[in-house]
Amino acid sequence: MRIIAPSMLSADFGHLERDTRMVDASAAEWIHIDVMDGVFVPNISFGFPVLKSIRKASPKFLDVHLMIVEPERYITRFAEAGADMVTFHLEATEKVAECIALARKAGVKVGMSVRPATPVAELAQWLPEIDMVLIMSVEPGFGGQSFMPHSVDKIRELRAMADVANPNLIIEVDGGISASNAALLFGAGAEVLVAGSSVFGAEDPQAEIVKMLEAR
Ligand code: DX5
Ligand code: ZN
Repeated sequence: MRIIAPSMLSADFGHLERDTRMVDASAAEWIHIDVMDGVFVPNISFGFPVLKSIRKASPKFLDVHLMIVEPERYITRFAEAGADMVTFHLEATEKVAECIALARKAGVKVGMSVRPATPVAELAQWLPEIDMVLIMSVEPGFGGQSFMPHSVDKIRELRAMADVANPNLIIEVDGGISASNAALLFGAGAEVLVAGSSVFGAEDPQAEIVKMLEAR
């Protein structure tokens, strides 16, 4: 399975509907939505109204990445605003079980994410209960940063853990991804690649998505 999830953080918010429809018409199966609270990360992006507008402009799978503290306070509302999957950070909450339960109750898929410095071993106990792990390959907070190479080892380690604990676990990687490292990441065991600046900064974003999907 190979999926590209363009990150709307790099879209033109003055033309959000146009950019969402562009992704909708592309080979990307998912749309990645980065929510930042200015506390978990040193940046603020957007919240419910923007997610709702994207939802209206595309029926595709909306992959919502919460970079917010205490995600348990907002998971239900993101589900109601149109998320198909809600991913929260392991480092952002002391109530992991509650976060998983809230997502399940709301009928959305559930992902957990780790920052570059957090070992994947810390996710072990939760793997049987979740649908996806999102490995951050840059420090969360901003688009356009450089890919951190040690992420590849984390993907391999997590894939081996998941083969035992949850063979259906999806592995997604986020940060600094382009057609030049897509093959390496798919090869290491990732199924979903998030790409912001490489897609929206390309002269032909739809062709860039196909390049990533077909990277060898
Ligand atoms: C960073 C976000 C990413 C970001 C990726 O905190 O989680 O999704 O948009 O942007 P690029 O692809 O430009 O690194
Ligand atoms: Zn993200």
